[in-house]
Amino acid sequence: MADLAQIGVTGLAVMGRNLARNFARHGYRVAVHNRSHAKTQSLIDDHGAEGAFVPSESMRNFVASLERPRRVVIMVKAGAATDAVIDELVGLLDEGDIVIDAGNAHFPDTRRREAALKEKGLHFVGTGVSGGEEGALNGPSIMPGGSKESYRTLGPMLEDISAKVNGDPCCVHVGADGAGHFVKMVHNGIEYADMQLIAEAYDLIRQGTGKSAAEIAEIFKTWNSGDLESFLIEITAEVLGHVDAKTGSAFVDIVLDQAEQKGTGRWTVQNALDLGVPITGIAEATFARALSGSVPQREAARPVLPAHAAEWNVEDPDAFIEDVRLALYASKVVAYSQGFDQIAAASEEFDWDIDRGAMARIWRGGCIIRARFLDRITEAYERHPELALLLADEYFAGAVSNSLAAWRRVVVSAAQHGVPTPAFSSSLAYYDGVRAERLPAALIQGQRDFFGAHTYRRVDGEGTFHTEWSLDRSESPA
Ligand code: 6PG
Repeated sequence: MADLAQIGVTGLAVMGRNLARNFARHGYRVAVHNRSHAKTQSLIDDHGAEGAFVPSESMRNFVASLERPRRVVIMVKAGAATDAVIDELVGLLDEGDIVIDAGNAHFPDTRRREAALKEKGLHFVGTGVSGGEEGALNGPSIMPGGSKESYRTLGPMLEDISAKVNGDPCCVHVGADGAGHFVKMVHNGIEYADMQLIAEAYDLIRQGTGKSAAEIAEIFKTWNSGDLESFLIEITAEVLGHVDAKTGSAFVDIVLDQAEQKGTGRWTVQNALDLGVPITGIAEATFARALSGSVPQREAARPVLPAHAAEWNVEDPDAFIEDVRLALYASKVVAYSQGFDQIAAASEEFDWDIDRGAMARIWRGGCIIRARFLDRITEAYERHPELALLLADEYFAGAVSNSLAAWRRVVVSAAQHGVPTPAFSSSLAYYDGVRAERLPAALIQGQRDFFGAHTYRRVDGEGTFHTEWSLDRSESPA
């Protein structure tokens, strides 16, 4: 019997192909399969020498070429395509086998699939994989959910192929059933916020100082050697420095200003609304993409809505640019703090027992939001594993308070000059809201009781109350 493969990958588009290559490069025998066999064949033709691949034309032979417990990675489009592959696989697997969904599946689908396969004695491991095509090949951040039992045999293999930071794998068992895909979803929500904040910083500098995209690219390169060091800052400098071959213009000036989204940011916001977690930075970033694509509204607005804003020529460009850098850092802290709050709330809701420090640790490398900043978050959770608010950790509270005056100047200036900064502004509003002694929510409670008898609580004692607004306005316990 030919040597059986230790891991199998079905779905050999670029991500699946690169994951298979990554496993093979780490010495694993990798069974490979694709619905159209041509893709399998081209993987073998192009990269067969990189390691031990076991190609199969049929799903049946693909499964038969795997050692027990079989470990099958599905790398196909999230949604119906994933369900179709699972249906085809299930009849061919035996008790104890493991199905790994490494696509960007929506975590409720993962919870459903995990429960269904568990009834058949199978493990279903929804796994977030972050880092794009390059990460899949050279080391992604990997966020597996599913059973602890499946991680015992699968985990070491995933850790082998993951990115490494100081020798530590960027992979850890996140929690049961859909926890892995949930954390990947929040990673993407934070990614949206990070990208929006960077875009706002670029826009402010461009509009405030008149600097060219190429000049701003150099600014981002400088920022990337400091606290803001990150993959997204690094690629921003590359994108802004890029010149369009066709026109000779700055690339960023010839791109249509309508941002698209595959859906993970949207899912993050929808879930936050369900859980009641105010992820305002992530939400504004997601809505900013929707606004950019609101063509009828933008076309209707442009000719008739005046700016009534002052002409903008920053007196001291260097000081302004430093203000923007500080405001970007502070706003980023808020967005990450909100994302980690959402992870904590979901961990409670779904009983996942997610270690937020471990999530920060595995996001330090391989993933799209990888950054020096994540070392600081890891340290914060090492200091206080049950930290109620990342923003209130001594390091971040200090960093943000040092940025506060600059942050306020930037938000004020943006408003005065008619430059939209939904993520910068909402993050500052969140900061002021979460630290406020008293919020106007008290008035809202009064309004709700007035028109709907929805009751309220008092600051000076226990219990809930209602005021007889339409009678003698006496108060009675609800
Ligand atoms: C990653 C990325 C990836 C994401 C794409 C597209 O972690 O490797 O987040 O999973 O799907 O970047 O995302 P949007 O189309 O939603 O921007």
